[in-house]
Amino acid sequence: MGFGTWQSEGPDAKSSVETAINDGYRHIDTAQGYHNEAEVGAGITASGINRDDLFITTKIDNNNHGYELTKESFEQSLSDLGTDYVNLLLIHWPNPIKFRENWAEANAETWHAMEEIYQAGKAKAIGVSNFRPKHLKELAKTASVAPMVDQIFLAPGVLQPETVSYCQENNIQLEAYSPLGTGDIFKSRDMSTIAQRYHKSISQVALRWSLQHGFLPLPKSTNPQHIQENTDIFDFELNKEDMAKIDKIKGLKDKIADPDTVEF
Ligand SMILES: NC(=O)c1ccc[n+]([C@@H]2O[C@H](COP(=O)([O-])OP(=O)(O)OC[C@H]3O[C@@H](n4cnc5c(N)ncnc54)[C@H](OP(=O)(O)O)[C@@H]3O)[C@@H](O)[C@H]2O)c1
Repeated sequence: MGFGTWQSEGPDAKSSVETAINDGYRHIDTAQGYHNEAEVGAGITASGINRDDLFITTKIDNNNHGYELTKESFEQSLSDLGTDYVNLLLIHWPNPIKFRENWAEANAETWHAMEEIYQAGKAKAIGVSNFRPKHLKELAKTASVAPMVDQIFLAPGVLQPETVSYCQENNIQLEAYSPLGTGDIFKSRDMSTIAQRYHKSISQVALRWSLQHGFLPLPKSTNPQHIQENTDIFDFELNKEDMAKIDKIKGLKDKIADPDTVEF
């Protein structure tokens, strides 16, 4: 499981990352687009952890596609994070508005730069985010290194079956972003009923469901109690019936953003 940092800003980003590491998280997810890489880096430094014990992910921003911008912006990310390598580097979106006319070519160039970053050991793994099979197939035409990860929106009731099947068939690890529906899962009465039966919180059940699907959930929190609570998910197992019920939970599906029409 990783720790999310989207919408964690300033001192909150620093303190939440420090708290998470002290609570045992070892995987931190940030992005150029979150404008918090420096604060995330400061939180890592404040925790006192050895760099080698940590897994850091960042993502190439929508405005930085293309060979040169990828290379330049990545160096800035390393400097802001205060490290000389990341464990995982992702293309954040396949089809940002700035490159809509030539998204496939822009992804191919971005990927080429990321392959060189990977070969130089400055990213230990490379992957994508918000890519659907159409984008992954297009990338495969020019890639010499296959993407290792696809980070997509996966949460109770949101299974994105086409992308999940494609990734599972092609040995691409799925990371589950917004595993709590950016907070909206807490409105679900059905989740509450299931959680009560296991004597667990809604959050813990949602994260457990994600893990049992083989996803890698990335919950975000700036609340120390929530950060700790979200780690306490390894002492219970959801049964098949409840897994199937959570697959169909209503309320989050309309939060899926279409990567080909987003306005950013
Ligand atoms: N690649 C992408 O395009 C993309 C897109 C979205 C997200 N992500 C990644 O995925 C991470 C998580 O997604 P997300 O930020 O959308 O949100 P999320 O993790 O689905 O939900 C976070 C929300 O849930 C609340 N929360 C967390 N734990 C809780 C608990 N135990 N009890 C009650 N409330 C709790 C948080 O509030 P408090 O802070 O008050 O606890 C916050 O409002 C992001 O931070 C980011 O790293 C990636």
